[in-house]
Parts: sequence; C-alpha cells; structure tokens
Amino acid sequence: MTNKKIKIAPSILAGDFGKLADEAKRIEDSGADAIHFDVMDGHFVPNLTLGPRALAAINRATDLFLDVHLMIYNPFDYVERFVESGADNITFHFEATEDVEETLSFIKKCGINAGLAFCPETSETMIPKYLPLCDLVLLMTVHPGFGGQGFIDDVLSKIAFTREFCAKRDLDIDIQVDGGINQETAKLCRESGANSIVAGTYCFQAEDGLKAAVEALRG
Ligand code: DX5
Ligand code: ZN
Repeated sequence: MTNKKIKIAPSILAGDFGKLADEAKRIEDSGADAIHFDVMDGHFVPNLTLGPRALAAINRATDLFLDVHLMIYNPFDYVERFVESGADNITFHFEATEDVEETLSFIKKCGINAGLAFCPETSETMIPKYLPLCDLVLLMTVHPGFGGQGFIDDVLSKIAFTREFCAKRDLDIDIQVDGGINQETAKLCRESGANSIVAGTYCFQAEDGLKAAVEALRG
C-alpha cells in the first residue's frame, strides 16, 4: 500500500490508430491522469508501433500528461525527439542500454520526468541503485512487446520490495505497472505499493466505457 496519489494512464496502443487525436480527447474526457504512449523498435521487442510525429499529433490534441514508454535500444539517441514532440515523462528499459545513469540524467536535463523500466525476469536487486535518479520506476507485469497479454503475478513481490525501499529512504517515486492490468490485477498492484497504473486492452474494450474503466482501476 502507498499513500501516494493513484494515477491512471490508459495505453493508446489499444486505441484506434486512425483517430489518435480523438482517442487522446477520449482519454482526457475519461478523467485519466495521463496518456501512456508505447514506442517499440522491432529489435528490443519484436513489434513496431508509433514514433515522435504521432506523439506530436497527440500533443496538439490534448493537455494531458504524456507518458512515453520506450521499448527501444539506444534510448539516449531518441530522448530529444520525444521531448520536442511533447513528452512529459520518458521511461526507457534498464535492459536496453549500458548508459542507464547518463540517459536518466539527460532526460532530467531536458526538463521532464525520467522513468526506468524493468522486465519481469530482471532481478529486483538491480533496482535500488537507480531510484535516487528516477521520478518513476516501471515494473513490467508482462514481457514487453504486445498488448493483451496475461498478468505475471511474480512481479507483486518486486513491487512491494521497491515500495518498501522507497519508504525507508524517503524517496518520493511513482511505481508504475504495465501489462495485463484489469480491475482485479490493478487492486493487487495497488495493495503491493504501485500507484501508477497503465492499462490498454481493459480500458479500450470496457463494456461500460473508458470513464468507468478508469474509475474501476483507481479503486
Ligand atoms: C506492452 C506495453 C503496454 C501495453 C499494455 O509491452 O508496454 O503498455 O499497451 O497493454 P495491455 O493493458 O493490453 O496489457
Ligand atoms: Zn507500456
């Protein structure tokens, strides 16, 4: 559990790519806190998605916080382009670069929030060293690459470990979860200490609509 504000970020990856501006507006109207924007390069993960021009189009359509999740090698080289396109946070993967500290510092130097993501199989012992440099830690609850996968519940103990570490060191960091999140798994994640919840399929396929889905995820 955490006292930090619960933030909900629908992933536009599950939206209609033919109407990105409308989808951004729809997310804004749902009462969500951010739009999660997944970038995949076909190398770090076996899938391709959207780039800086699509982010700029979304940025023109909404004032919502734009949370960019880079699933690409050499993230450092792309930071400036996403900042210029309107990113408010850039998260990249620990597993995708040897320049983790340099990339975190560079993102901060660009005047936006910096996040570091960890794949489900990466040991929690890798996390603490970087926490003082981060605004957000993303603990992936699926193997990155595709929407619509099943939640990996082994990650719950990693969430609890990270939240406990932050509490002990008085570090004010968002702990984000992403992948296989629905009303039930969001609750498990919040109870373990996550406060930033990303969901794609659940939000965009919700029978009661996006607004009800966002409320259900908030708990
Ligand atoms: C997966 C992406 C996720 C994806 C989640 O690699 O990082 O953000 O959109 O999709 P769901 O919520 O459908 O698992
Ligand atoms: Zn994501």
